[in-house]
Parts: sequence; structure tokens; C-alpha cells
Amino acid sequence: MASETLTIIDNRTGKQYEIPVKNGAIKATDLFQIKVTEDDGIVSYDPGFMNTASCQSKITYVDGDRGMLRYRGYPIEQIAEKSSYLETAYLILYGELPNKSQLEDWTHNITFHSIIHENIKKLIDGFHHDAHPMGILLSTVGALSTFYPEAKKIFDVKSPYRHSLGLPYSYPDNDLSYPGNFLNMLFKMTELKYKPHPVLERALDVLFILHADHEQNCSTNAMRGVGSSQVDPYSAVAAAAAALYGPLHGGANEAVLRMLMEIGSKNNVPEFIKKVKGGEGRLMGFGHRVYKNYDPRAKIIKDVADQVFEVTGRNPLLDIALDLERIALSDDYFIKRKLYPNVDFYSGLIYQSMGLPMDMFPVLFAIPRTSGWIAQWEEMLTDPDQKLARPKQVYLGAQKRDYVPMEKRS
Ligand code: CMC
Repeated sequence: MASETLTIIDNRTGKQYEIPVKNGAIKATDLFQIKVTEDDGIVSYDPGFMNTASCQSKITYVDGDRGMLRYRGYPIEQIAEKSSYLETAYLILYGELPNKSQLEDWTHNITFHSIIHENIKKLIDGFHHDAHPMGILLSTVGALSTFYPEAKKIFDVKSPYRHSLGLPYSYPDNDLSYPGNFLNMLFKMTELKYKPHPVLERALDVLFILHADHEQNCSTNAMRGVGSSQVDPYSAVAAAAAALYGPLHGGANEAVLRMLMEIGSKNNVPEFIKKVKGGEGRLMGFGHRVYKNYDPRAKIIKDVADQVFEVTGRNPLLDIALDLERIALSDDYFIKRKLYPNVDFYSGLIYQSMGLPMDMFPVLFAIPRTSGWIAQWEEMLTDPDQKLARPKQVYLGAQKRDYVPMEKRS
């Protein structure tokens, strides 16, 4: 039988090393024994983690070449069709689908714990009326750690939208489903009881399912990295939300809408594509570090969009998006680089048609992703291999030199 090792010959010294291979990986620390002098052991240099596994995980599996996504082994297509967001969150957190009574308890517990401390409203009131909701979200989640100090014992284990419109906060309604209540907290006006439209309620549920987890992406890496200092989970979620906020990650859904509005009409699409190919900006909502095929979430979102537009009317920006997709998918620049639409390409169009302002879109990504962040955080805390995240660097700066007094500086 072939040996599960890697043989490395260091041509600088002629020495040979046997490095164990386990689960398709070598330990980066095993490289450190490869030295020319006593203190120069080899490190692996990998900015952006292009080929570095930072953990072992049993939560989410992505096969980027085949465009495949599974939560705890279940294909995303089946979950999006048959499950609800709360059931999906249970699966992601506990590893198995709940039985009937487990799901009832889980749903009851979440539904009956949705009121926040009144002082948090005052905190939100302190933000300027046009503060970005994502900035409000990550600051407020960070502040929650001070409201729930017991969260510091880690081993014991919606309001920004209305504030921006000057509307009174709407309290949760425990009779509604999780997505239905979310719509209630956004859109309830003076009616005694808010009734969510069933198609929009289901659409939001599916969008939440699709955003629940996505293995080791930028924000999850922030959650694990910050959480590895054993800080409380609210602070770690605030860090993860900050990472998600950027336009290359969860902020892309907002950036897509701004791009579509800037393009303005189908006639301007070829000119826009030309600019992108010339290096002037990116086609937002396209490309992915892992998917080198159509993002399976984008396929499902396209169907959801059709259902939502039947209720809300067709979003006029959809034609520009469809044209961009059609041209990009047949253009050599995008084909060569394997750039396909990702989850953010169509989600913003749906949120906009549902009446949500653009700057709320990343918040709608962050809320469902919190179940994934928490599951990944817990897995990290209970993994005996994990330690305080502390990468190395390849130092290329000046060697030791003596301080130069001001009068001798040129
Ligand atoms: N438009 C135009 N060119 C692109 C794009 C794009 N959206 N994405 C990548 N490229 C080009 C890039 O210029 C480079 O070309 P070259 O080889 O000639 O230099 C090549 O493709 C490889 O790009 P990269 O930046 O090395 O790839 P990456 O894996 O670091 O980037 C990405 C992944 C998602 C940051 C990038 O595709 C991107 O910026 N996309 C637009 C933003 C976006 O939609 N982000 C949401 C991602 S999905 C939601 C999530 O999970 O966060």
C-alpha cells in the first residue's frame, strides 16, 4: 500500500524529510523542521488562505468545481425546497435534523426570546438617521455582550431599518413564523395585526436558508479567529459582521444593485462589460473564490425571484441583470476565469422588490449567517487542535539599524 506521506528533498541542504499526509493535508508545522540554520524553519506563505485549511469541520461542504453545497451532508437544493430557516439553523448547529418535538421546542424558544432590552433601542436611537444599517448592526451586536455578561462564560455553554425611516420600533409577534415576524418588525404600520404575504414570507425563509452557512469564508474566518481569543460570542459575531460588510463579501448584494442602477439601461451593458474587462471595476455578484461553476445558491435564488416578482411586479433592473449575465457567460474574459453569478447577483433585486432599501441588504445576509457563525465558533472551541489564531509572517523589512537623531536625517 502506498505510504500516506510526502517526501520532501531540500535542495539547499540535500536533506530528505517524510511528512505525514492526513485527510489530504500536511501540517504546516511539520514544515518547520526543514531548516538550513537552527532558526530558519520553512513556513508556508499563503496570503488570503488560497490553499490553506485553517480548521477541520463537519458543518458545510462546498465543491466549487461542481457547484455543490451541502449542510451537514444535505444538498442545498433539498433543504431550500423542503426545510425552513429555523429547522436549517438547528441542523447546522446540532448536526442532525430535529424530530417533531425538538423542532417545536427550538421554534418556541427562539420565538419567545425575540424581545431585546429596551436600552438597546436607546443605543440605536443614538445613530445618525442615515447611518448604514450594517454599521448599526455590528456595533449593536458588539454592545449586546455588555447586556449579557453571562455570555463571557463561553464554555458553559431589526431595528436599524425603522430607525432610518423614523418609524417606531415594531415588537415581535409570537404568532408569526420566523421570517413572517421579521417582515412584521420591518413593515408593520398601524394595523393591529401584521399579515405577511405567504409568497414573500417563504421567499425570505429560502433566502435565509441559502445564507445560513458557507464553510470557511472571510466572515467565518473572522468569527473563528476572533473567537479563538476566547472572547464572548457577541463580540466575535460583531467582528464577523464587520468582515461580511465589505463589498467583496456580504456587501456585494448592495454593490450589485448600485452597479445595476449605475448601468441604468440594457443599452449600456456592452460598454460596462468592456470597462470591467479593461480593469475598470468588477462585475459585482460575479466570481467566487471557491465556485468555479455556477453558484448553486444563485440558481435557487433565480427561481425565488420569479415567484416574488409575480407578487411585487417585475423589478425593472432585472432586464439589465439578465443581459449582464447573458453577455458575461458567453464572453471569453469571464469564461477563461470561470466567473459565474454568485449568491449576491439576484438577491438584491428580490430584497428591493420586497421594499427593502439597498443598505439593508448586507444585514439580511448577516442575520441568517449568524447560525453558521455560531456553529463554526462552537466547533472551534471544542476542537482540541485549535489554538489562539496567530499567523506567521515572512519578514522582508530592514535588518537591525541604529536610531538616527533628527538633525542627522536627510
Ligand atoms: N469581475 C471582473 N473580473 C473578476 C471578477 C469580477 N467580479 N472576479 C474576479 N475577476 C478576475 C480578476 O480580475 C482576476 O483576473 P486576472 O487573473 O486577469 O488578474 C481573476 O478574475 C481572479 O480574480 P481574484 O480576485 O484573484 O479571485 P478571488 O478568488 O480572490 O476573488 C471574489 C473572489 C469574490 C473576491 C471576486 O470574484 C470578486 O471580487 N467578485 C465581485 C464581488 C462579489 O460578488 N463578491 C461576493 C462573493 S459571493 C458571496 C460571499 O460568499 O461572500
